[in-house]
Amino acid sequence: MTAGTQPTAPGGPRPTGTRYDAETLERLTRDAREIVSRYPDPRSSLLPMLHLVQSQDGYVSRDGILFCAQMLAITPSEVSAVATFYSQYKRRPNGRYTVGVCTNTLCAIMGGDEIFAELSDHLGIGHDETTEDGAVTLERVECNAACDYAPVMMVNWEFFDNQTPQSATAVVDDLRLGKDVVPTRGALSVCDFKAMSRVLAGFPDGRADEGVGAGPATTEGTRLAREKGWEAPSSAADSGPEESPTADAAGSGAEVPPATGGEQSSAERTPTTGADSSSDTPTSTDKPDTAPVQPADEPVSEPEEKK
Ligand code: FES
Repeated sequence: MTAGTQPTAPGGPRPTGTRYDAETLERLTRDAREIVSRYPDPRSSLLPMLHLVQSQDGYVSRDGILFCAQMLAITPSEVSAVATFYSQYKRRPNGRYTVGVCTNTLCAIMGGDEIFAELSDHLGIGHDETTEDGAVTLERVECNAACDYAPVMMVNWEFFDNQTPQSATAVVDDLRLGKDVVPTRGALSVCDFKAMSRVLAGFPDGRADEGVGAGPATTEGTRLAREKGWEAPSSAADSGPEESPTADAAGSGAEVPPATGGEQSSAERTPTTGADSSSDTPTSTDKPDTAPVQPADEPVSEPEEKK
């Protein structure tokens, strides 16, 4: 077979040239068409398409790259460029479970570095490496917005909060033995890498609302505020002239509306309510001493390409 598409195929492109068997190709094509239908431009669907490929192959394979390229009418190089940019896309077969230890600042000082070192020694693998039995891929991961439960470990992106080297080791041992492990928050169980990838491709497994998302540590600030009667100011004017970024220079405390096109201004958008059409249109003398107003028809320069 040769690589290419059959543009006259009913229902859209039908990839050829991969080594998927007919049944697998049929299923992937059906799923891919559903993903593509969610976006105004087919190429915008590349990220979930790559997760779909990982749900089939366990990584972004050569066949998966060809499949994405042909479904989206882009080049394999363009697919590879994206797949190699994001760390969630694997270019080698991934373990059934990605064990990610947060080693960002807070988790690191709370024990994340020790947990990673212990797991690395225990499993005999380093960052982004997989155990011989194909069970566990170990990673250092960035902050998971779970700092209130530091140090945190993720297993296929499910939370394991307040870990220690001992508790983390027990989790990976159970994973390798095929035992069920239970996250400390959120879903009630951990699915494997391929099943997780299918969810990330946009095919829910119905478990999104399982378990507790925000635990007591997450809501502690709210509890304290209620207990002490703390409230946020209701508007910028309530915080007084010194703290209001739009207070006028004379220090009267009166709020000065931002000029059209100036910082904080939304006056250029199409009015949608009566309040949007307020006659309090600021004049040029109201302009804050900030960034110059850019004429609407001035060409916007493209950002410099990342080197
Ligand atoms: S630093 Fe680890 S979850 Fe934020």
